[in-house]
Amino acid sequence: MTAWSARSWREKPIQQQPDYPSAEQLQAVEAQLKQFPPLVFAEEIRALRANLARVSQGKGFLLQGGDCAESFRDFNAPKIRDTFKVILQMAIVLTFAGSCPVTKVARMAGQYAKPRSTALETVDGVSLPIYRGDIINGIDFNEQARTPDPQRMIQAYHHSAATLNLLRAFAQGGLADLHKVNKWNMSFVAANPLKDKYLQVAEQIQSALRFMEVLGITADTNATIHETQLFTSHEALLLPYEEALTRTDTLTGLPYDCSAHMVWIGERTRQLDHAHVEFMRGINNPIGVKIGPTTQPDDVIRLLDVLNPANEAGRVTLIARMGVNTVAEALPSLVRRVKAEGRHVVWSSDPMHGNTVKAENGLKTRDFDAIHHELRQFFAVHQAEGTYAGGVHLEMTGDDVTECTGGAYQIAEQDLTQRYRTQCDPRLNADQVLELAFLVAESLRDARQGRG
Ligand code: PEP
Ligand code: CO
Repeated sequence: MTAWSARSWREKPIQQQPDYPSAEQLQAVEAQLKQFPPLVFAEEIRALRANLARVSQGKGFLLQGGDCAESFRDFNAPKIRDTFKVILQMAIVLTFAGSCPVTKVARMAGQYAKPRSTALETVDGVSLPIYRGDIINGIDFNEQARTPDPQRMIQAYHHSAATLNLLRAFAQGGLADLHKVNKWNMSFVAANPLKDKYLQVAEQIQSALRFMEVLGITADTNATIHETQLFTSHEALLLPYEEALTRTDTLTGLPYDCSAHMVWIGERTRQLDHAHVEFMRGINNPIGVKIGPTTQPDDVIRLLDVLNPANEAGRVTLIARMGVNTVAEALPSLVRRVKAEGRHVVWSSDPMHGNTVKAENGLKTRDFDAIHHELRQFFAVHQAEGTYAGGVHLEMTGDDVTECTGGAYQIAEQDLTQRYRTQCDPRLNADQVLELAFLVAESLRDARQGRG
């Protein structure tokens, strides 16, 4: 293998990149970004990697979630707060159910670049470059908006910095106080057949908190009740941006991509000899790799050989996104092979991206039951193989959107237009996330039987 540098990916074939009209403007932006402070610190990145190492050993659980694509337009404090809150609520349900620490990783503060299935979009006979995320071009269908503009990287950096700043404030400034987060938004149970079960779990959590309070374990005496840690993540798709934010840590002398704590490679850009794998192999962040239904056991092992040659726990999270009708068939051989070779990975399930369908009105949607059942099967496969189902990866928002069908409110296809706001893929809304949390809790409890 040739020597790695933050720019060695430039020697490789690359997918899913924009065509910038001016190379000079692009270079000027890259130079500017290289001077900017890192968004996260290497020490925090190492802390996440250590957490994930414990998850891979069955001593924790990974909850990763947030927008499919963040947007500059829809950028405000309530939105950040509500998504933060719903991640925390789900984490509490899972912590309680699994009796294990839940590592929280947001798809926020940098999730701005999207892989697409076509290069152009055609409307009424007019073809323009496809929307690739706000860090690259604008979503409006006109030539100016759709022309890739490197200045958007600067904007994405500042939006990410402001988002991170607020997330850090929320995590440490009291919004994560267990007593407050636990003021459940339980409206989704009203019409739910599982109502009694949900209320019972919520009551058990309340009562555990009351018990701790009686013992004197309160937010005043114990920081963990008051504070939490939320890590950030995004798909490392736009490599000029990721390269520019890659820094050598002065403590260890190792390179880290300081645009986020964790970054992942998408299903469309994980070719072994291509640029994205080349870039990712050299950074020391924990990394995710999306794997879809056509992935072969050999593919996974070769990726692990390149991305984690020392087989270090916590380095790689395999994010299976198979689809509800495929997961039971496609996943076992992969899990078996990884186990047989003794590779240390976190197995996480993305039950969103294999279940995207087109509603009759043309909108992209996903059905709550399909998402739930892919997750259940993910847990069942690991149960059967004697391996550990270590995480979930969701597209979700704290907003009251109508983008995924089903759930307790039985959102129907004709309801989707009411509050369909996503920039890209359909997200679970706050009610759907909490409902899913309670449903997954049971699988997690079973998965954790007999584990430390
Ligand atoms: C995504 O996570 O938004 C995404 C595009 O996923 P995948 O690469 O799995 O299709
Ligand atoms: Co998506």
